[in-house]
Amino acid sequence: MTTTPLSRTARRRWWWTLWSLMAVLAIGIAAYAVPPYLTGDPADSALPLRPDVALHYLSLVVHAVPGGLVLIIGPLQFMTRLRVNRPKLHRVLGRIYMISIVAGSIAAIVAATYSLDGLPSQVAFYLLTAAWLYTVGKAYQAIRRGDVQLHRIWMIRNYALTFAAVTLRIYLMIGMAVRAAVPDLAFEDVYTTSVWASILINAVVAEYFIIHRTLMPLARRRQRHDAAAQNEGAAPIPTGTNG
Ligand code: HEM
Repeated sequence: MTTTPLSRTARRRWWWTLWSLMAVLAIGIAAYAVPPYLTGDPADSALPLRPDVALHYLSLVVHAVPGGLVLIIGPLQFMTRLRVNRPKLHRVLGRIYMISIVAGSIAAIVAATYSLDGLPSQVAFYLLTAAWLYTVGKAYQAIRRGDVQLHRIWMIRNYALTFAAVTLRIYLMIGMAVRAAVPDLAFEDVYTTSVWASILINAVVAEYFIIHRTLMPLARRRQRHDAAAQNEGAAPIPTGTNG
C-alpha cells in the first residue's frame, strides 16, 4: 500500500501533537512534584514520612531529583531532528538519562521500603524499579550492538515506565475527585489503584506505540523492498530487530 503525501503530513501532525502533549505533561509534573524535595526540609515533603527514619526523606530527595531529570530528558531523546542533527547531544543526554535511572532506582527501593502506603503499592514500586532498570539496560545493550530499531523499542518501553510518574498523579487527581463524591472510598484504595493503573496502562500503550510506530512501518518498508527486489531480481532486505 502506498502512502500519499497528505496522509504522511497528517500522521506527522498527529505525532507532533502527541509528542508536545507528552513533553508538556512531563515538564509540568516535574515542576510540580520535584520542588518540595529541593528545599532540604523534610516538612516540605508531599508524602508522610517515618519520623524515626532520616533515610526516608533522603531517599525521596535522591529519587525525585534524577526522576525529574529523566522525565524531562525523555521527550528530547525521541525527537528525530535532534537525534539526526545533534547525535553527540543525544548520546550525552542518553548517558545522563541512564545514570539518573540507576540513582533514582536505588533511592526508589529505599523509599518503597519505608513507604507508609502499604504492601500492594510497595510491591508495585519494586516491580516498577526492576522493569525500569531492565528496560534501560536492554536499550543500552541494543545500541552498543548498533541495533538502532531495537534500542528504540526498549526506550519506548522504558520511557512509558518513567511516564508512570505522570499518569499516577493524573489518576490520583481523578481518584480524589471521585472520592469527594464517594466518601466511603478509602485513600489507600485510590492510591494503590492509581499506582497499579499507571504502570499497567502505560505498559500496554507502549506496546501499541511499538507496533504502530516501529514494527508496522518496518514491515511495510520490508514488503516494499522485497517487492522491488523481486521485480529487479535483487537480494531481499535482511531483518534488523532480532532479540
Ligand atoms: C519509573 C520508576 C519509578 C519508581 C519505581 C518510583 C518509585 C517511587 C517510590 C517508591 C516513591 C515513594 C512512594 C510512597 O512512599 O508511597 C516515589 C515517590 C516519588 N517519586 Fe517516584 N518512582 C519512579 C519514577 C519517578 C519519576 C520519573 C519521577 C519524576 C518526577 C518521580 C518523582 C517522585 C517524587 C517527587 C516522589 C515523592 C512523592 C510526591 O511528592 O509525589 N518518580 N517514587
